[in-house]
Amino acid sequence: MLSFGMLKRVCLSQLSAHQGYIVKQMKKIKWFIIDRCFGIRNAFEYPFLYLKLSITRSMNHSYKKLKIINFIKRVKNKVPMMMDYKGAYQLFVLVHNTDKIQGDVAEVGVYKGGSANLICEANENRILESKSYREIHLFDTFSGLPEVQDKEIFYKGQYIGNSIKVRKLLAEYINVNIYEGVFPETAEPIKNRVFSFVNLDVDISQSVKDGLEFFYPRMSRGGAILIHDYSTSQEIKDVVDGFFKEKPEPIIETFVDQVIIVKN
Ligand SMILES: C[S@@+](CC[C@H](N)C(=O)[O-])C[C@H]1O[C@@H](n2cnc3c(N)ncnc32)[C@H](O)[C@@H]1O
Repeated sequence: MLSFGMLKRVCLSQLSAHQGYIVKQMKKIKWFIIDRCFGIRNAFEYPFLYLKLSITRSMNHSYKKLKIINFIKRVKNKVPMMMDYKGAYQLFVLVHNTDKIQGDVAEVGVYKGGSANLICEANENRILESKSYREIHLFDTFSGLPEVQDKEIFYKGQYIGNSIKVRKLLAEYINVNIYEGVFPETAEPIKNRVFSFVNLDVDISQSVKDGLEFFYPRMSRGGAILIHDYSTSQEIKDVVDGFFKEKPEPIIETFVDQVIIVKN
């Protein structure tokens, strides 16, 4: 005969087995959530290793950023540059990010060579430690802005540069070609080249239009064009918007007044 006491013991043992199962499952669920959602199980199991790894990882990233910013600062101390730190950083990483795309690098709008210095450094990637030795083509009148149609803040002859000083500034870099004169009249030597990155920093809408007409068909797929003054000049905005209206590429606005086009 099953006594009341025996029945109670059987029920309790069943219950605790069940509870044990539930507790086990709950623990598994808890670790699953921690593991998948927060990714910090290691933080509980190996706190010091986790701390060391996360600090190294974030320091590595910040260290690279810091090195780029320090480089920009050094260039800014050498020559007047028309970009702020955010714009200059954007230019630097774009040159670096396009290094696996086939094609040369070009800039129209060199002025004193500040942005060109960033392009050359990012191309050789001494800071980010990858080796890209793309050919670089730099275009400027070096006698300032050509004929200005835009009725805004600019005037003919503004931003006079000096090609000899720019050559000296960039003497340590390889594969650098400098072309003096009004673009696209000076573009003959590169008409059969393809491009992975182009920096259009020309201030006036006619030069932006000429630059887009020349470079857009010569861009490799995945290559990028960085256009300056998009949000500060209505004329440049109109030219860029009009040029890409019927084209598949979106105009990617950045935090500063530059826009990026990635060739489809
Ligand atoms: C704002 S500055 C460039 C600043 C430079 N990228 C920097 O960050 O130091 C604009 C330059 O574009 C050049 N430029 C504008 N239109 C041009 C054209 N069609 N051909 C050659 N140079 C041009 C001017 O001579 C001027 O030096």
